[in-house]
Amino acid sequence: MKKKNNILKIEHLSVTYGPIKAVKKVNLEVSQGEYVSLIGANGAGKTSLLKAILGIEKAEEGNILFLGEDISRKATDKIVSLGLCLIPEGHIIFSSMTVLENLQLGAYHNPSGFEENLQRVFTYFPILKKRSSQIAGTLSGGEQQMLSMGRALMSKPKLILVDEPSLGLAPKTVTEIFDILGELNREGYSILLAEQNAKKALESSHRCYVMKTGEVAITGFSSELIDDPQIRQAYLGGS
Ligand SMILES: Nc1ncnc2c1ncn2[C@@H]1O[C@H](COP(=O)(O)OP(=O)(O)OP(=O)(O)O)[C@@H](O)[C@H]1O
Ligand SMILES: [Mg+2]
Repeated sequence: MKKKNNILKIEHLSVTYGPIKAVKKVNLEVSQGEYVSLIGANGAGKTSLLKAILGIEKAEEGNILFLGEDISRKATDKIVSLGLCLIPEGHIIFSSMTVLENLQLGAYHNPSGFEENLQRVFTYFPILKKRSSQIAGTLSGGEQQMLSMGRALMSKPKLILVDEPSLGLAPKTVTEIFDILGELNREGYSILLAEQNAKKALESSHRCYVMKTGEVAITGFSSELIDDPQIRQAYLGGS
């Protein structure tokens, strides 16, 4: 089988906060068009890893290659303009601005094709079009998560990093969010998802990395890991 090209290749990446080693020599790859998940308990290092990719946290050691280019020491705005985005944990939005203003800010680093991108976001999230002049802070939690995703898509990413999109949302909304992630992937976006909801993550992704105290403990195809007794016991409630 022909090997697919990597869009992201991480080698021996470590992230530390003073004495705390949050990420320890992690190797991880995402191929073009692939949907990869990252699961693990509280404090396993998932968010730290995503932040390091975006240059929000400094890589203590190791390399991060995006489309073959080493981005491990680049500034976040430069990384975003290369085609990477992070949908952060906790659907962070600018709550006193309107929905449309939030989306406009998402296009800040990649302003070309603004109208086209906006229409694409409205196709994925019709509710954002309906609420475009509404103050973002008055949206429901699920709508705020959609706005956070829509804003990231406005930067025309090639690879989408998503951190715990299901956090604090009702089950029906969680399903909706995961359906949209699947749709985005089928449309050609590569995705790296960090998620504590291991079941949803494994059901939706092609491959998965399991993180344990900063290290990659297990990796494999999601369809196989979902039936793995060890994974079922530790991350899927033993069911
Ligand atoms: N800004 C920070 N300063 C100091 N320690 C931090 C900081 N952010 C994270 N940590 C520590 O780094 C480790 C990894 O945390 P991280 O948030 O990356 O894990 P996580 O897998 O995303 O967890 P969760 O599932 O709770 O979101 C933890 O021990 C955490 O306490
Ligand atoms: Mg986290």
